[in-house]
Amino acid sequence: LARAYHEKVISHYEQPRNVCLDQSRLSYVLGLSDNSPAPLLQVGSLPKNDPTVGTGLVGAPACGDVMKLQIRVDENGIISDVKFKTFGCGSAIASSSYMTERVKGLSLEDAEKIKNTEIAKELCLPPVKLHCSMLAEDAIRSAIRDYRTKRTKAGEPKKAGFIDVSQSAATGETVATAHPPS
Ligand code: FES
Repeated sequence: LARAYHEKVISHYEQPRNVCLDQSRLSYVLGLSDNSPAPLLQVGSLPKNDPTVGTGLVGAPACGDVMKLQIRVDENGIISDVKFKTFGCGSAIASSSYMTERVKGLSLEDAEKIKNTEIAKELCLPPVKLHCSMLAEDAIRSAIRDYRTKRTKAGEPKKAGFIDVSQSAATGETVATAHPPS
């Protein structure tokens, strides 16, 4: 490993950031075989059904690697916590670890702008490993999409205020009621 990867990749691979110490088996979570020859890294997760959590689960068809990235979003729309589980090569694990560091504290709008080319540059990935960083880009976008879908389904209140105009049944007068932004 040390000869094949840049030291930044090895750093994230050996000491992944934003993981939890609970080393439950990833194969259990993802339903994958225990006998897979690929590197297996078990890291943390957030409660999938929590309305403040978005989950992105993506895979690379070419190699079969899988990445799960979860974000928790606070009331101001800022990513306050991130966890990942990656089943794959060292570059994929390093890319997901790097992504967790990169997005913590960002707004959703800023997080979804992060490109895989930035990750690849930061980790000095060779061209043949670009798709590994692509997984991380796909994963954060998928997590953000999942979070937004949950909020929409939950009927997130509109932010803008509005004025309700109606006619009083008693007096016939036009009544305007202002509703401030929620
Ligand atoms: Fe497929 Fe790295 S080889 S994600």
